[in-house]
Amino acid sequence: MSKTIKEKIKRNQFVVNYSRMWPFVKPIWLIALLSLLICVPVGSLDAAIAMFLKPYTDVVVVGKNMDAPWFIPILIVGFTTVQGLLNFGSAYLNTWVGGKITMAVRQRLYDKLVELEPAFFDKKTSGEVLFRFNEDAKLACSGLLTNLKSFITRICSSVALVGVLIYNSWQLSIVAIVILVVAIAPLTRVKKLIKSLVSKNNQCMFQVNTTYNETFAGNRTIAAYNLQEQQKLRFSNLLNEVFDLMVAMTRRTAWLSPFMHFVISIGLGLAIAYGSWLIVQGTITPGNFVSFLTALLMLYTPLKNISNVAVSVQNSFLAIERVFEMLDRPSHLVEKEATKPLDGVKKSITFENIHFAYEPGVDVLRNINLDVKVGEMIALVGNSGGGKSTLVSLIPRFYDVNQGSIKIDGVDIREFSLYDLRQNIAVVFQDNFLFDGTIRENILLGKPDATDEEIRQALECACLTEFIASLDKGVDTAIGERGTLLSGGQKQRVAIARAFLKNAPIVILDEATSALDNKSEEIVQKAIDNLMKDKTVFVIAHRLSTVKNANRIAVINEGDLAELGTHEELMAIPNGKYRTLYNMQFKGGEDSAE
Ligand SMILES: Nc1ncnc2c1ncn2[C@@H]1O[C@H](COP(=O)(O)OP(=O)(O)OP(=O)(O)O)[C@@H](O)[C@H]1O
Ligand SMILES: [Mg+2]
Repeated sequence: MSKTIKEKIKRNQFVVNYSRMWPFVKPIWLIALLSLLICVPVGSLDAAIAMFLKPYTDVVVVGKNMDAPWFIPILIVGFTTVQGLLNFGSAYLNTWVGGKITMAVRQRLYDKLVELEPAFFDKKTSGEVLFRFNEDAKLACSGLLTNLKSFITRICSSVALVGVLIYNSWQLSIVAIVILVVAIAPLTRVKKLIKSLVSKNNQCMFQVNTTYNETFAGNRTIAAYNLQEQQKLRFSNLLNEVFDLMVAMTRRTAWLSPFMHFVISIGLGLAIAYGSWLIVQGTITPGNFVSFLTALLMLYTPLKNISNVAVSVQNSFLAIERVFEMLDRPSHLVEKEATKPLDGVKKSITFENIHFAYEPGVDVLRNINLDVKVGEMIALVGNSGGGKSTLVSLIPRFYDVNQGSIKIDGVDIREFSLYDLRQNIAVVFQDNFLFDGTIRENILLGKPDATDEEIRQALECACLTEFIASLDKGVDTAIGERGTLLSGGQKQRVAIARAFLKNAPIVILDEATSALDNKSEEIVQKAIDNLMKDKTVFVIAHRLSTVKNANRIAVINEGDLAELGTHEELMAIPNGKYRTLYNMQFKGGEDSAE
């Protein structure tokens, strides 16, 4: 790549990054502009102070004349006061504008996050999600305004100070400016220096976050398997890695500042030597010289920590890049522009030649053909890992099929909007998630505007009435994050009540009653049988007593639909898979279908 193209890209990076942030700035652009413009006087006032030193030195110090410049000290104090007030206003606006932009970016990222498909979450750790959606938003915005402002302040102050330099002596200015350019030249390399380290550091931070999450969620497993020492060691290794990266970062960038100091000291040395000669020659006055030196020192001082600024600018650029990489990420679940309305199932749900793989080449479901009539309860049984949960997760389009199609009344489910489709489905998962809050809040997720009577009915059907009655606060009892304060079976029943309340035409129950005792299961099963009369129900269960009442039973074995029929039909197949499973459970006395 030629040098000019490289330069172009570098310059564009600045423009590209900042222009992409525009939509977030747009609603508050006037105040944002004000917060930037305020930098102009703040920067330029620096030069005024240096400027006044010339008449002061020439008239007072050298000319010993006390008449004219008495106002200079007052002006200096006055300017500083104005500058101070402007600085205050600037800091205030900075926080306000920065806060607003961060808020907008965070919201956009979160909007994206909740819309992302399950496949995204399968591949990410919680630590990475936390970092990329929370930290990056902060990092991208915090740098944005501060950097742009300090950039503008520096530019204004530099332009004004260079003006002072040239006014005092153009000869000296040439020396000073050449030195300045040499001193800041290495800053163009900062991004290259830090990019790989920043990326490694982020990977470590993802892991640190994940470790905290795992320590929280897995605290009992850690205790039960005595994993404390192992966890401590893992964490300490991570921290060491973060430390090494931090040190490496300093090693790569900390030479910038001393290098600049060195170059600048040469500049100062040259300016003093050359300046003294110019005074002796009579080309410039001592006042010019003092004013020049002051301006030069003011110009050079910010360079002392400009390398830090450059590192933080690049850090925030990298964060902005990551933010947009995430926002631009196309959804793998494509919704049609013009969707068809969906209002319940009229005739049937059909699976036609379904093939599905989570990872390319590893088929989880192969050539599944299944026609489920409206109002039918179909049971899915089969070996663990055979693909039952996967098959039902294709109905609400958690994943899209690789081949074939799922149709509701002859219309491919991809023709409906995701919202409509999911609004028509109630799911009780194999591992249900309950939110931090009360039982009522969790159940109401099924139908936010449900009446107390509807809630009562749902609780009754889910066999929760007795349990709720035993609680002081009843349905308003808090259940802790993920429902930690409930037993496994209670959690499952809350999830069932939630699904009952949703009252959707399609119901998916994935091992929904696996954690219940026989008595509760019988009650819930009856409720399912009653309530689900006009609904199309998919039931997955290992306990075959649960599925006996289903209209038909599908045996999914290693991704294939091995058998399909009523209980009696399947029992009639000699050496049939269902029959073998059934006999194992009921005649062999082993309660396992695995
Ligand atoms: N999110 C995922 N990403 C990749 N592979 C997955 C994912 N979920 C499940 N699998 C794999 O897909 C296969 C089918 O899993 P699935 O959960 O559908 O089985 P299942 O029949 O429901 O089993 P079980 O009866 O134990 O619940 C398994 O081999 C599993 O390892
Ligand atoms: Mg399963």
